[in-house]
Amino acid sequence: MSTSSTFPSDFLWGGAIAANQIEGGYKEGGKGLSIQDVMPQGITTPRTEGPTDDNLKQVAIDFYHRYAEDIALFAEMGFKTFRFSIAWSRIFPLGDEAEPNEEGLAFYDRVLDECEKHGIEPLVTISHYETPLHLTETYDGWVNRDLIGFYERYARALFARYGARVKYWLTFNEINSVLHAPLLSGGINTPKDQLTKTDLYQAVHNELVASALATKAARELAPNAQVGCMILAMPVYPLSPDPDDVMASLTTERTNLAFGDIHVRGEYPGYYLRSLRDQGVDLVVTDEDRAVLKENTVDFVSFSYYVSVAETADESKRVMGEGNLFPGVRNPTLKASEWGWQIDPVGLRIVLNQFWDRWQKPLFIVENGLGAKDELVEVDGRKTVIDDYRIAYFNDHLVQVGEAITDGVDVMGYTSWGCIDLVSASTAQMSKRYGFIYVDRNDDGSGTLDRYKKKSFDWYAGVIRSNGASLTR
Ligand code: BG6
Repeated sequence: MSTSSTFPSDFLWGGAIAANQIEGGYKEGGKGLSIQDVMPQGITTPRTEGPTDDNLKQVAIDFYHRYAEDIALFAEMGFKTFRFSIAWSRIFPLGDEAEPNEEGLAFYDRVLDECEKHGIEPLVTISHYETPLHLTETYDGWVNRDLIGFYERYARALFARYGARVKYWLTFNEINSVLHAPLLSGGINTPKDQLTKTDLYQAVHNELVASALATKAARELAPNAQVGCMILAMPVYPLSPDPDDVMASLTTERTNLAFGDIHVRGEYPGYYLRSLRDQGVDLVVTDEDRAVLKENTVDFVSFSYYVSVAETADESKRVMGEGNLFPGVRNPTLKASEWGWQIDPVGLRIVLNQFWDRWQKPLFIVENGLGAKDELVEVDGRKTVIDDYRIAYFNDHLVQVGEAITDGVDVMGYTSWGCIDLVSASTAQMSKRYGFIYVDRNDDGSGTLDRYKKKSFDWYAGVIRSNGASLTR
């Protein structure tokens, strides 16, 4: 049975990517190195000394040269919006220069030209796991307060250049993930097992202040823009109705919710302050920081959603499963993807309701999707992928988005993750494919880079065309 559309007529349907996972051209146009150039295997191994030839991200899917062709394909699917990130090291190759790199700025002008040509609203992430390597090696990334000023200068350069063309901005991708992946998310060079809790939470604080300063800068330089935070959402269910399990799940969930609370309410919640005290964390927080956080809260909340997890107070029952960047207790009622990520469409409705009840801010789902192995086949002389599993995943999640909208939740839009195949963030594989568009590139770097439409391409185009009415329950 198909659903009559519950989606608002201005719902922003689209897809999402990050610069380091698609662009390639890692040294072109005056670009500096980023942390991604020393993370050839993602977060699965320690960083390398310098760039290595086995790093798929050096070429990625060559969006740097093929952006026009790719954006035309997104337009063919009817995208209303396209979420992409700007590579910080294209704009400030080292990160601490006084002036931006014109060639880098000009590249994103061209990307925006293509979006405009097709009537696609850009949704720009300012920082998505691509801290300039120099900032990592010289300053230890976000542990150092100096990063606040470098990031603010970078954000100001973006608002000054693109502020009139870009309405929707996200400050940091999955800002809460720094607690779990300090190099990837916080550009922190000190290995995770040597990092003190105080340094880690100081990095969090510095990023939160920088996020608020970017919001402030947008108000000055791009008054029509809207700025959102971006949180890795992962609902945490109690493994049993035992109140100790319920409390344990709340405590774990709050490690993520705190980031929304601070961005929306402009201050540290009591439970967060208690957790810092309990961990012996001693932060440097100035009165000015407090004022900046309070005065520059976000316009909307965006988030990624892939998995839910469980939690229990009983150590003997803590059987861990895979998660997005960090593991969680496995939920025995759910199935998992080939990478062990547990699939839970209803969890998306739960998150939407929870965030709306909590923050009363418009919500934007800016990542959701299935990483799966695809097989390229020939049908009627055309290469394609029959990805019914991906269609089922998206259908089931989008039905739940519709339910949440019917529940009264204000949802601005939905951008599927990796609308075109790209290099995975955690494992740096090509074979973990998310796209509606297949890219001929393999884990060993071989392939023509040609693009092929998967079965899900036409399916998603139909969903957008019908504004969700073609979804089936
Ligand atoms: C999110 C990131 O954590 O999940 C993306 O914002 C990432 O960059 C996505 O690609 C999916 O994760 P992975 O590891 O399968 O690429």
